Amino acid sequence: MIFKQNDALKLLEIIKARRDVRGNRFIPKAVEDEKLNLILEAGISAPSVGYSQPWKFIVIQDTKIKNNILKNFEDENKKAKEIFKDRDLYKKLKLEGIKEAPINMAMLYEPQGEEVIGMTSMKQMGEYSVVCAIQNMWLMARSLNIGLGWVSILDEKKVLDQLEAPQSSNLIAYLCLGYVDKFYDESELKTLGWKDEKKLSDCVVFK
Ligand SMILES: Cc1cc2nc3c(=O)[nH]c(=O)nc-3n(C[C@H](O)[C@H](O)[C@H](O)COP(=O)(O)O)c2cc1C
Repeated sequence: MIFKQNDALKLLEIIKARRDVRGNRFIPKAVEDEKLNLILEAGISAPSVGYSQPWKFIVIQDTKIKNNILKNFEDENKKAKEIFKDRDLYKKLKLEGIKEAPINMAMLYEPQGEEVIGMTSMKQMGEYSVVCAIQNMWLMARSLNIGLGWVSILDEKKVLDQLEAPQSSNLIAYLCLGYVDKFYDESELKTLGWKDEKKLSDCVVFK
């Protein structure tokens, strides 16, 4: 398939409009099954080291599980607040949308139990493949006007327990997914003054 310049511009528009969405923006509107399927399909279409496809996505709607994960977040965030105690803004930040988002998703990496092409030297490539799946899903969700937020302030082992997932797997991300009242134009952490945006020239070196 050959794409046109306009397709590339549209893709960049979606990439730039993608936001991390937290509980202050989710609305209680159900995500249609066809849209959820498109998002999941985008995930499993990601590149993976040695075509290992080492991902498992657990789709969570159960309130009891969500409540347990939220407690896990609150315990971990208490420690994070201590770490950032010199920055007053930290404790005011909303950093998850576990209860507000109609769908939560745990993104697991499952070790393959066999040698994988491309992982013989760099052992983290399996986990990075799952990250590629997450980014695909994030962009597909945005193109459907569905918000997605990444929660990483969690005790990984406890999440695996709470999901009755094998302890041999790794939690790569815990995602919150749902419709939103609006998408911000820029990163909320930039707007709130937590961190400045880097320019292209700060990030790219030509040799
Ligand atoms: C690996 C990873 C982990 C993240 N973990 C969290 C998190 O625990 N809580 C949160 O509110 N945002 C989390 N984020 C979202 C980032 O804060 C967000 O992507 C960043 O501020 C840029 O904003 P934007 O995604 O809206 O452009 C995470 C993002 C990534 C890529």
